[in-house]
Amino acid sequence: MIAKYRFGHPFPTDAVVQELPLSAGAPACFTVTEEEDGTHFRYALDKEDCVFGLGEQARGINKRGWIYENYNADDPNINEARQSLYGSHNFLLIAGEKPFGVFFDSADRVLFDIGYTDPDELVVVAKNVDVYLVEGESALAVVHAFRTLIGQSYIPPKWAFGYGQSRWGYMDEGDIRAVFEGFRDNDLPLDAIYMDIDYMLDYKDFSVHPARFPDLGKLASDLKAEGVYLVPIIDAAVKVQEGYSVYEEGLANGYFCTDSEGIPYVVAVWPGESMLPDVLNPAARLWFGSQYKALLDQGIEGFWNDMNEPAIFYSKGRLAAAIDYVVSVKGQNLDTHAFNKVSYAINSLHNSPEDYAALHHNVEGKRVCHAEVHNLYGYNMTRGAAEYFAEYAPDRRYLLFSRASYIGAHRYGGIWTGDNSSWWSHLRHNIAQMPGMDMCGFLFAGADIGGHCYNTTEDLLLRWLAFGVFTPLMRNHTTNGSRDQEPYRFKDIAAFRSILSARYALLPYLYSEYVKCALRGEMLFKPLCFEYPEDRRARTVEDQLFVGGSLMIAPVCDQNAAGRYVYLPARMKLVRMKNGRPCSTKVLEKGDYYIPVALDEIVFFVREGTVVPLAKPAKNASSVDFTRLHWLKFIAAPTAYELALDDGFTKSGIEKGLTAVTVEP
Ligand code: GLC
Repeated sequence: MIAKYRFGHPFPTDAVVQELPLSAGAPACFTVTEEEDGTHFRYALDKEDCVFGLGEQARGINKRGWIYENYNADDPNINEARQSLYGSHNFLLIAGEKPFGVFFDSADRVLFDIGYTDPDELVVVAKNVDVYLVEGESALAVVHAFRTLIGQSYIPPKWAFGYGQSRWGYMDEGDIRAVFEGFRDNDLPLDAIYMDIDYMLDYKDFSVHPARFPDLGKLASDLKAEGVYLVPIIDAAVKVQEGYSVYEEGLANGYFCTDSEGIPYVVAVWPGESMLPDVLNPAARLWFGSQYKALLDQGIEGFWNDMNEPAIFYSKGRLAAAIDYVVSVKGQNLDTHAFNKVSYAINSLHNSPEDYAALHHNVEGKRVCHAEVHNLYGYNMTRGAAEYFAEYAPDRRYLLFSRASYIGAHRYGGIWTGDNSSWWSHLRHNIAQMPGMDMCGFLFAGADIGGHCYNTTEDLLLRWLAFGVFTPLMRNHTTNGSRDQEPYRFKDIAAFRSILSARYALLPYLYSEYVKCALRGEMLFKPLCFEYPEDRRARTVEDQLFVGGSLMIAPVCDQNAAGRYVYLPARMKLVRMKNGRPCSTKVLEKGDYYIPVALDEIVFFVREGTVVPLAKPAKNASSVDFTRLHWLKFIAAPTAYELALDDGFTKSGIEKGLTAVTVEP
């Protein structure tokens, strides 16, 4: 049962795919008041209630005890104090006596005070919002109903489930080929190499630097012959430069965001002065999407969309004013206050709310202020690309994921969680983010494994990869100038080989579970209490997850730890894997255990009554043989398992590929 209520005049987000009649009044469980800053929705929390959701947000799986503000933010300083991250996913699941979900569908900012001001109260503040109240018998049933409301999650090609290597700093074709050779020569599996901004000429979208990449098409086809795909980055902003066709076409057609008078608004990002494609205007969105053709035509089949909150380093107008101000105080003896004003004049230029307020979209001939629809920008950039791919090759699946997002974007692509850091706490945060993103439809998700900012360590990368084995997007990425982060740069390459092999051995399971969850609106990563709602202890576990129907994982997240304590909410079979092969199993009763986990080992737990298909590890996803399987079993009777045996790249093959097999004990 889903009821829809409307407050104010919401901007259409297209987050939802089902037409529902509007219910009168307000949802009965909320006290609703109109206040100066928006509509307030208050809900009395029971002491026992857990509050889940909010997608990729900060903090733990249970969101209770903090105040969050969903307003897409380009800010790499991810920490517990943060209220907004790169994506805004306004769905909450209140898991108490009778679980229910609530989706605040607003293009504008939404505030969630989840027991921060008053520990026993949930307060949501939104303006111009459609509120969907979602009922169900259990937390999983509520999520299922919500996911049906928002439509089917994106399914990438199978190769995108392989391991990807990235870094900001691969400068040219030689660097890319060296990465390929590093993996090949060390017998490490690989499916994708990512190209960060340096492949472009002057950071111009859809250009390729002619000296650094003299023949991108040949590079792409050489690597593809080895089973490795190139995945270039696409940034939102388009460089202002005469003679640059993307800029000139966009300008001539009125496809860029403007000021309130309709004059194109000049911002600056990597390429310097730039303009932002008006992706909320359907014609401009499709036009920007059609620019991907330049790379598709060279054999590129995957893209990551970046800087699409949108990130603004400064705007032309405000920089000029700030410089005037700084010049005006030249020669003065500045006291602290005056110095702070100088420093603020420059430091406040970045992602300024004033620029978001000045920027406008053209929606059906009407000028719409960006600040009020901010959260839809990255979503529509990704949607434009996906809409164009469907024209370019209607039945083909492409890899596509984005940094900024809003619910609805999950139908068009995946997300990565942006610029995290090489910190153990961020590995832990990555674990906590996965179920939230799943609830909101973003099944194809992952973090920068090893950490983006700062320097990683060998053990952090190994432990993070051991978790990343289970995340649909498994990409190691790091920032410019950080320590080398490719597995073959470290001492114990055999340990990395062992961990990466597990991904490929588990691929028949991980891919089949993904496809089924996407088609059926289910969660891939489930907190323990979603499966064991009566188990009070399970509610407090924040660092273990169920992955699909058969497995539970308990990643090691502490440096120098030789293992960890694990809570088993039921009898399970512990499995140890090395080099992609199970090397020992042991049945454990419900309870607490200290489980040693070596750096080169994958440890997981198989649920009673289930099976896990394993393949022989391979050098890339396309070479994994899904038909010759070894079954891990914890069953007493014949058990059915549905494998996804599609071709891995067409859309039409997906459902037909689902094949039920019966596994004997
Ligand atoms: C942004 C992205 C990061 C990328 C960098 C350079 O910070 O989030 O992944 O490496 O830009 O393009």
